Amino acid sequence: MADDDVKKTLDELKSKRKDALLGGGLKKIESQHQKNKLTARERLQKLFDSNTFNEIDQFAVHQSNDLGLDKQKFLGDSVVTGFGLIDGRKVFAYAQDFTVLGGSLSYVASKKICKIMDQASKIGCPIIGINDSGGARIQEGIDSLAGYAEIFKRNTLLSGVVPQISIIAGPAAGGAVYSPAITDFIFMVDGIGQMYITGPDVVKAVTGENISHEELGGSTTHSVKSGVAHFRSPSENECYSKVRTLLSYLPSNNSENPPNVKMTDTTKLDDTIRNIIPPNSNQPYDVLDVINKITDQNSFFEIHSEFAKNIVVGLGRLDGYAVGIVANQPAQMAGMLDIDASDKASRFVRFCDAFNIPLVTLVDVPGFMPGLHQEFGGIIRHGAKLLYAYAEATVPKLSVILRKAYGGAFIVMSSKGLRSDVNLAWPTAEIAVMGPEGAVNVVSRREISKHENPEVKRAELVSEYRTKFSNPYVAAGRGYIDDVIDPAETKIKLSTNLKMLQTKIDSIPPKKHGNIPL
Ligand code: HXC
Repeated sequence: MADDDVKKTLDELKSKRKDALLGGGLKKIESQHQKNKLTARERLQKLFDSNTFNEIDQFAVHQSNDLGLDKQKFLGDSVVTGFGLIDGRKVFAYAQDFTVLGGSLSYVASKKICKIMDQASKIGCPIIGINDSGGARIQEGIDSLAGYAEIFKRNTLLSGVVPQISIIAGPAAGGAVYSPAITDFIFMVDGIGQMYITGPDVVKAVTGENISHEELGGSTTHSVKSGVAHFRSPSENECYSKVRTLLSYLPSNNSENPPNVKMTDTTKLDDTIRNIIPPNSNQPYDVLDVINKITDQNSFFEIHSEFAKNIVVGLGRLDGYAVGIVANQPAQMAGMLDIDASDKASRFVRFCDAFNIPLVTLVDVPGFMPGLHQEFGGIIRHGAKLLYAYAEATVPKLSVILRKAYGGAFIVMSSKGLRSDVNLAWPTAEIAVMGPEGAVNVVSRREISKHENPEVKRAELVSEYRTKFSNPYVAAGRGYIDDVIDPAETKIKLSTNLKMLQTKIDSIPPKKHGNIPL
């Protein structure tokens, strides 16, 4: 080719690339910034290691001509897709480009997303979606809906194969919310991220209720009330930084182990942990204080922190090894298990199991929450999820009973019977079918009522029961507890046992799939 011809073709490429990089044009970019939102490419730059993001399909164009679309064609269409590095590890991502027809999903945009999902699956890398879209491209009708179906199908098939993360940094309306909903984690950005099945106008028309976009589907609603979102951030920058932190605990796919980091502190006896539990066993304390003492310094990364606060879940490190922590929280509702806590913890347990992350469970639970609201809401069905998740999990499972472990809740929280590998207890552990007061009321009611001083008799029987049953030694005597330990040696014991379990192999019977009570 003559030099002139080479120059011409390269100029054409340069000019097309420049066009593509402008998305829907300067005016739309300005409008995006006015809404306090970054553009799709600015977002990807912030999420990935500097200058590592490679775009794919930058010249894809939608193929529709109805309802004026023939005059609105943009290079790359309404989504930017590609791959890059996060902390030096390969990750695929897409970011919907709101400057192009409101980020609405065309069939071509869906094909771009599906292409990188297929690549992430073959290569074994996490996939991140940044959502900012008006939903199905109205002008394309059924083709757009078909595009969503292709994405949902891949979200489902990739579930448990590679980590999938959704970021909501704009509207996510209608059926479009179901792609994020299938993924493992949803991050929302305060003020700009909104998710709902139908917007405020439809809500008003159907139910007569008045509600704003933010109240209906903003980040607070989904982090606190619905539990749809796992994280929320006050700014986009903080959100991308949190996503990077989350990835640092995860393997790239289900055939790898999570990455280890160098130990940040030494594992030694820690006397201060002995003072966390108050002497009165009905008094609350913050289980985060225990978690922070038994994990490497500043390594605990809480997930779903504003939802179902009566249980704490998150990722942390023990001697540099990633672990999933599940802990009852006595500071909230005495740490009782309810519908939301069961849902929150079971999904987390299954995530850890799918991605080879050992589980450490800290138990202080008086039982399942009683009441009509819970029974009518299906606590039986929801609580069963947690049992199922623990029983099914084959990753190394360790537990420490800190204080109460009563009844069904004792069984649920990683008990030996559910295939837990190492079960430890502090001397303060109370392991029994039910608490002393309740138990005495049931089994000694007649004896108490016949006594000349019923209250004295009740106190005597409660004390007797407590000495006999509410301690860890009955369970340890039967091997349900492997060891009773000084709280000060908890981290040492956990890390020694975690190392012992590193080569654990366990399995479940061959089946198409189980039928978890959903
Ligand atoms: C085509 C769309 C669009 C859509 C927005 N636009 N949504 N174009 N299809 N779904 C276009 C607008 O016409 C506008 O074009 C530009 O995007 C920006 O939109 P604005 O309305 O100006 O932006 P804003 O005020 O920020 O409001 C954003 C919005 C609103 C809240 C998302 O646009 C909206 O309500 N859109 C419709 C949402 C919706 O009902 N979608 C269908 C959901 S059903 P111009 O050229 O004027 O700039 C669905 C089914 C999925 O998605 C099913 C999956 C199973």
